[in-house]
Amino acid sequence: AEARSPLPKEEFGDLVAALPRKEQYLDGRLYEGFWLPEHYAPGIIAFRRRFTPRADDVVLASYPKCGTTWLKALAFAAMTRAAYPADEHPLLRLNPHDVIPFVEDVFTDGHEAKLDMLPSPRLINTHTPYQLLPESVVAGDGGGGCKVVYICRDPKDMVVSLYHFMRRLQPDLSLAGVVESVADGTVPFGPMWDHILGYWRASVSRPDRVLLLRYEDLLRDGAAGEHVRAMARFMGRPFSAAEEAAGAVASVVELCSFERMKALEVNRRGTAGSYKSMPRDAFFRKGVAGDWANHMSPETAARLDGIFREKFRGTGLTI
Ligand code: A3P
Repeated sequence: AEARSPLPKEEFGDLVAALPRKEQYLDGRLYEGFWLPEHYAPGIIAFRRRFTPRADDVVLASYPKCGTTWLKALAFAAMTRAAYPADEHPLLRLNPHDVIPFVEDVFTDGHEAKLDMLPSPRLINTHTPYQLLPESVVAGDGGGGCKVVYICRDPKDMVVSLYHFMRRLQPDLSLAGVVESVADGTVPFGPMWDHILGYWRASVSRPDRVLLLRYEDLLRDGAAGEHVRAMARFMGRPFSAAEEAAGAVASVVELCSFERMKALEVNRRGTAGSYKSMPRDAFFRKGVAGDWANHMSPETAARLDGIFREKFRGTGLTI
């Protein structure tokens, strides 16, 4: 039988039950300023209290629907680039969510032992806001701490992506409902502006520890390689001159390209994730920047832009 830790919902169930609640397409609980999905709240609390980082851990963090799948694929492909011949890479037969553990699932399901068994350097993935990461992960110099790579995206495209994603489970969900939850901050793992600001501020004050990527930047023609190069360097695995000469960066980018991944048999069938398991193909919808214009009125777009502009005013962050 699999090793199971005490289930967080038994340990922290009462704590969570006392938190403000919002019923919506993914029920939320307001915990320390963030609307955590109710299902994951006990697991996130357990993550904060029990996670033991290793010095060379890399935490891949994201706001949902902002490029998590791509980031996981790129980081995994970059880290394992020397381990497999190009035509036998695990990403050709496994979905990115199946090769890098999602912390929220791991803790919620009492599967922490799975993290202990991973070889170093570990890649782990979370949607937990920076402000709620375990102290051990964000600790300053000398106090441990991990490296964190965060990906963010135009909130309007996140809204459209989240809408289509959740529609796979709730066909009657409206785009207006998702827009409202983003606008009032109750969107799962929201407020989205505080999620982005937390990681952005950390990337400014601790650039050696927190690398911030933008989905749109990665998409820009020919730019993905540059970011993969920077990410590999950041993770402590820079591409060597020989690898550069052999086109290793381009191979990683190509392996993880939207068209390539979407077309793979593994990503066309089955499900990923332990909670509300999602068809794997739901993680590969359109893969472009600016699709919001096909779904949202100019008024709604301007409203969302205005909210984020206001929230980011004076911070130096632009979106
Ligand atoms: P769209 O719904 O706009 O197409 P996440 O991985 O955080 O759930 O985000 C999903 C979004 O990333 C979806 O956006 C999806 O299509 C896009 N995506 C997934 N894999 C990608 C890849 N390899 N390259 C570019 N975009 C990708």
